[in-house]
Amino acid sequence: MMDIMVSSRYYLFQVPLLAVVCVALLSACQKEDTHPGQPVTKRERIFKENIRTFEAMGLMIRDKEPYSAKEFLGYAQQLKALSTQPWAYFPPGSDYAPSRALPAVWQQPEAFKQAQEKFTVAAAQLADVAQTGKLDQIKPIYNQVKESCASCHHDFRAAYSLL
Ligand code: HEC
Repeated sequence: MMDIMVSSRYYLFQVPLLAVVCVALLSACQKEDTHPGQPVTKRERIFKENIRTFEAMGLMIRDKEPYSAKEFLGYAQQLKALSTQPWAYFPPGSDYAPSRALPAVWQQPEAFKQAQEKFTVAAAQLADVAQTGKLDQIKPIYNQVKESCASCHHDFRAAYSLL
């Protein structure tokens, strides 16, 4: 009788432990990037910063957060700095999972470069116009940046991850 109680308690203890171990293993599998230089991991990290910064501005643009000229300028300058960073991390052969980069990145390097320039120019313009503190002038440039992200994703990023 005693034995059964002990073992059932032990069992109950093991279930959540097992779940924790599974989750840990899963995330370890997904995050492990064993490729030299870890280009996919590095560009992913920069793109995540990109979207975070861009969305912070978007909230003000869409009137979900009160507009602060100073904060907006800070984000715009951050995005300008980020806009040149991902492109060094697209070496040939870095199309391994979980990358969503399309073959066009390597097959049409000129077009990919043009798409980068469109974005870096627009991001620099946004940082400039953000200094005016005038939302009505900022909005159209913000939308140009948005369009430059979207058009590059349309041509060079798969809609869904292969993983
Ligand atoms: C010149 C092309 C280009 C531009 C411009 C661009 N991206 Fe991307 N972006 C990509 C490519 C290619 C990928 C896929 C990278 C991969 O999965 O290997 C990507 C991936 C991402 C991801 C996914 C990162 C992840 O978690 O895997 C986010 C988020 C993102 N971009 C946001 C943005 C935002 C926001 C902008 C504009 C402010 C932007 N990108 C501009 C090409 C671009």
